[in-house]
Amino acid sequence: MADIAIVTGASGGIGAQIAKTIHAKSESQLKVCIHYNGNKTAAEGVRAEIPGSFLVQADLSTESGRKTLMDAVLAQGAPYVLVNNAGIDKPHEPALMVSEASYDKIMDTNLRGPLFLMRDFAKEMARNEAGVIVNVSSILARKAVVGSAVYRASKAALEALTLQFAHELGPRGLRVVAVAPGFIETAMTSAIPEEQRAGIKRDVALGGFGSPEAVAETVWHAIENQYMTGCVLPVDGGMSL
Ligand SMILES: NC(=O)c1ccc[n+]([C@@H]2O[C@H](COP(=O)([O-])OP(=O)(O)OC[C@H]3O[C@@H](n4cnc5c(N)ncnc54)[C@H](OP(=O)(O)O)[C@@H]3O)[C@@H](O)[C@H]2O)c1
Repeated sequence: MADIAIVTGASGGIGAQIAKTIHAKSESQLKVCIHYNGNKTAAEGVRAEIPGSFLVQADLSTESGRKTLMDAVLAQGAPYVLVNNAGIDKPHEPALMVSEASYDKIMDTNLRGPLFLMRDFAKEMARNEAGVIVNVSSILARKAVVGSAVYRASKAALEALTLQFAHELGPRGLRVVAVAPGFIETAMTSAIPEEQRAGIKRDVALGGFGSPEAVAETVWHAIENQYMTGCVLPVDGGMSL
């Protein structure tokens, strides 16, 4: 039986909450794989809160890192859920300052990683004709913020891949959905200066930053809803209006 839920970047703010929500909402039916890259302490904290879960360290921007994750998961059982959550938004570079080095770093992490994890995990899921992939995108796939050119491109491309994979994998019994958060209170957004935060909040219909819980609830909805595929679910407090 396929019963493993892999959450990449589960050492981070949103990923940790997704891992805990999957465990709680599935009533322990799904065994959670807590993936991390550099922050072992945070990942161990998440594991301590999720009975039966296991940790995997891997740099998912590399082919060898992705293989490490796949091998570790298959040693535990069959994958049913893959949440491609790991991602970076830095360096921030104005459009005319974009560098090839930051392009490689952001694209390798936010696009190459999720693409090849989808390809390889979907092959495993197809054996059981059941599985769900949730890709964590961003409101910035559709909204301009100075300094986010490559990040925006990476998330827009991830959304395109979501629709493409959903189209091709639906007949195999697999679903693929993207979730697009607005600004969420995590380490990724903690360094935004107060003046800029105030400007962002003015743009949000509901008036503030969102919580990792709001994103995790939406990811769970995508996992649970058996007639949902090939769409992008916004969780942005109305910032995209
Ligand atoms: N926070 C927001 O406002 C916001 C809004 C929209 C979308 N998002 C998206 O939500 C996702 C999670 O963001 P977050 O706010 O939770 O960020 P975060 O707290 O900074 O966490 C990022 C996670 O990604 C992992 N990661 C980074 N580079 C990696 C690599 N090369 N290989 C494997 N894992 C890597 C990190 O692992 P280690 O820490 O262990 O190295 C960490 O677990 C990202 O995809 C982000 O783009 C966030």
